Amino acid sequence: MPESNSLTKQHLHISMRLNGEPREVSFASYKTLLEVLREDCDLPGTKHGCELGECGACAVLLDGEPVLSCLIIGAECDGREVVTVEGLAKDGKLHPLQETFADCGAAQCGYCTPGFLVTAKALLDRCPNPSREQIKESLSGNLCRCTGYQQIFEAVEASIARIAACRVSGNSEVV
Ligand code: FES
Ligand code: FES
Repeated sequence: MPESNSLTKQHLHISMRLNGEPREVSFASYKTLLEVLREDCDLPGTKHGCELGECGACAVLLDGEPVLSCLIIGAECDGREVVTVEGLAKDGKLHPLQETFADCGAAQCGYCTPGFLVTAKALLDRCPNPSREQIKESLSGNLCRCTGYQQIFEAVEASIARIAACRVSGNSEVV
């Protein structure tokens, strides 16, 4: 049997923390994290775009940092923490970024939106009050064909006050 065939049949089993919960998952050893999430974890929110590391549609958080899941091999995620767009809402309540993206028209076709949301969340987690330039820089690897970006930058800015209000009111579980 050709070596490539035996590689595709080999399965791996890993443990990770996925959207706040412990998760065991088995998958073919060649799969990327993007494929593992969509095909083996039933989490289709993370999008297939270019699969070349150029569009940002597949962004997720790996140990709190945004990564392009099309460029990460699933095997690398054993013992690590992964957050996808499905992990942003808590107990049926949207994350403030999700609310402001909806309010500001920052999601049109929505294909790019999961990647923008998780990348913006990582920015706001490490820098709670970024400037417009910092927002632009941090989102520069995410491409959007629909919005022209202005509404996306405005949505991230609008979320800053909502996140602060959640923290002041003690309603911080979602942020
Ligand atoms: S699908 Fe990963 S960067 Fe485009
Ligand atoms: S909303 Fe359509 S690609 Fe961004």
